Amino acid sequence: MRFSVCVVVVLVVLAVLRPPQAAVAQKYAAIFNFGDSLVDAGNLVVDGIPDYLATARLPYGMTYFGYPTGRCSDGRLVVDFIAQEVGLPLLPPSKAKNATFHRGANFAITGATSLDTPYFQGRGLGHTVWNSGSLHTQIKWFQDMKASICKSPQECRDLFRRSLFIVGEFGGNDYNSPLFAFRPLEEVHTFIPDVVDSIGKGIEATHRRNCMDGLVQKLIEEGAVELVVPGVLPIGCFPVYLSIFRKQPEMYGRRSGCIKDLNTLSWVHNAALQRKIAELRVKHPGVRIMYADYYTPAIQFVLHAEKYGFLRQTPRACCGAPGVGEYNFNLTSKCGDPGSYACDDPSNHWSWDGIHLTEASYGHIAKGWLYGPFADPPILETRHH
Ligand SMILES: *[C@@H]1O[C@H](CO)[C@@H](O)[C@H](O)[C@H]1NC(C)=O
Ligand SMILES: *[C@@H]1O[C@H](CO)[C@@H](O)[C@H](O)[C@H]1NC(C)=O
Repeated sequence: MRFSVCVVVVLVVLAVLRPPQAAVAQKYAAIFNFGDSLVDAGNLVVDGIPDYLATARLPYGMTYFGYPTGRCSDGRLVVDFIAQEVGLPLLPPSKAKNATFHRGANFAITGATSLDTPYFQGRGLGHTVWNSGSLHTQIKWFQDMKASICKSPQECRDLFRRSLFIVGEFGGNDYNSPLFAFRPLEEVHTFIPDVVDSIGKGIEATHRRNCMDGLVQKLIEEGAVELVVPGVLPIGCFPVYLSIFRKQPEMYGRRSGCIKDLNTLSWVHNAALQRKIAELRVKHPGVRIMYADYYTPAIQFVLHAEKYGFLRQTPRACCGAPGVGEYNFNLTSKCGDPGSYACDDPSNHWSWDGIHLTEASYGHIAKGWLYGPFADPPILETRHH
């Protein structure tokens, strides 16, 4: 009796303290997520861990899981925080053998590009693309999964109508391909319209060079009505780029220490993506398409480190080894490789391995996407009918 009174009191207190979450818990039946290593929950390691893959070794996973899961971080990713906040289980990687996907699936895989490999081969970049599941492959995985999560087209549409779709991030690896081949930045900029089309929606069928449709458009056709479309990170602030691309002093932001023209590339991609989203909103007025910002929070982690509990320092990987400059990033001794080590407290670093972010960073970003200010509109903003 005393026990149940206690439970009631606790429930009442919880309900008073956290009314939005109580309502939120019922909001989504499932979450379906697509993307690359920023959101891979283990797809790349489902069939066994490739020897070369440092991201599947400790200290990856040290903070939350205590063991490596294939996530490229010390713990949870943005999508994990979102799932927990809306009362869903962590999304299993879509390739997992014995998982159930009725409450969602994570199709993201490390290395994914939005454009298919022939696009890069056609530009002499075949050797810099390493692709285990491009955006179009992930669409196919999604369509193949339908048979196991819903029994009829109507049942699928009903499920998708009640689900949240997180479409990315995509783009980072598309730009890495020419960047790491040291192609001029002007050439890298020419990829932007194609990347954005493949994420959002290709040009109308009659004008289309190929028949690939954008992922957002495709998911809307499947019945999705709530979609989150993330932009890319300010890559000029990341230890991997800072250590590979050495620039003249005037090419670095004075306060940030970031490489300005690399951040411009990310910024231009994000602006083009937001224009594409605006077009899609006009075409699909009944659908809620949210732009999710990775760029602004990452810049804030650099410029206003203390506000997030991070150390104020040159952009520096928590996990890595000394390399060129102060970035704690060394290509021959990356996080997880012999000779690398993790900082004592990953929660005071925003950069985990010089490429990806720490769980602490992802938590801040997830909060900003759910409640603002890092999403337009925030995912849990009350809907206006
Ligand atoms: C299957 O599930 C069990 C228990 O949850 C887990 O330990 C195991 O690793 C899973 N196997 C595969 C192949 O995913
Ligand atoms: C990078 O790591 C390698 C292998 O651990 C090491 O030999 C080398 O000295 C490191 N580079 C720098 C600049 O410290």
